[in-house]
Amino acid sequence: MKGRVLLVDDEKTVCEVLKIQLVEEGYNVEVACDGKDAWDKIPDFQPDVIVSDVMMPIMTGIQLCKKIKETHETRFIPIVIMTTLTDRAKRYEALEVGADEFLNKPVDTVEMFTRLRALIRMRRLIDDLEDSKNIIRMLANSIAAKDGYTGKHVERVARYSLDLAKKSGVPEEDWNTIEMGALLHDIGKIGVPESVLLKPAALTKEEYDVIKRHPDVGVEICQPLNFLKDVLKVIHYHHERYDGGGYPKGLKGEDIPLEARIVSIADAYDAMTSDRPYRKGMPKEKAVEILTEGRGTQWDAHLVDQFIEIIIEQY
Ligand SMILES: [Fe+2]
Repeated sequence: MKGRVLLVDDEKTVCEVLKIQLVEEGYNVEVACDGKDAWDKIPDFQPDVIVSDVMMPIMTGIQLCKKIKETHETRFIPIVIMTTLTDRAKRYEALEVGADEFLNKPVDTVEMFTRLRALIRMRRLIDDLEDSKNIIRMLANSIAAKDGYTGKHVERVARYSLDLAKKSGVPEEDWNTIEMGALLHDIGKIGVPESVLLKPAALTKEEYDVIKRHPDVGVEICQPLNFLKDVLKVIHYHHERYDGGGYPKGLKGEDIPLEARIVSIADAYDAMTSDRPYRKGMPKEKAVEILTEGRGTQWDAHLVDQFIEIIIEQY
């Protein structure tokens, strides 16, 4: 099957003709008579692409497109809007609400097949990327569980890190690196025995040395994955200290990549406020106090100040 196409038009004959052509070409087709009918059919049919007319009763193609692009679950479904060649205003309106492609009416079948192939290919790539992110989330959560976290520690670290990235003016194209880095920063702990990770007493020097290897091990694990190449710096440097006393490299100040300085604050805060098998999480006021004491020594002072503002205002 080449893909699932949801056809939306109030003119029955248009739908029927297009449907026959698409089915012959190997597509699975569902038909809707207006925007509202199409919206109702999305959950069951799960279209790979929607081809919609503009002028329809109850809900127009523009309204349908806007609703789809504004809804989290449906925002990646590509939409092709069918208009007459002369209707420029409608095209601009459709572009404004996120339409992906246009087809002139009457529809040229060859052009339609070409556009659908490209859009469905793009849709599948986005699905693959989303799947990879979900696998990363699962993996990261299972490592956090091994480290004694019961809730969604890495998800929280990712959220705090993104909040801090946005507040401190990190450009949007770097947000994904920060989110992935926050999820994966401790992946190297996969090789550290639980008897060490969860030891209730003080660690011996040898045990501490094992723990201190986790940033390097994390880099070794993620290095072969091309889509994680920018994330390696977060994994590698999330235990560096601003005063140079951290590990593994002893980097100092702004030599520590910004993304790692951000995740390190978010991670420390969540580690302090979370319950672990050997101790209870501390109240947020106490954690804020410790972050304040570590301004400029353990962490970047400016980032700590911005992070504390986030915690006070939003959490
Ligand atoms: Fe770590």
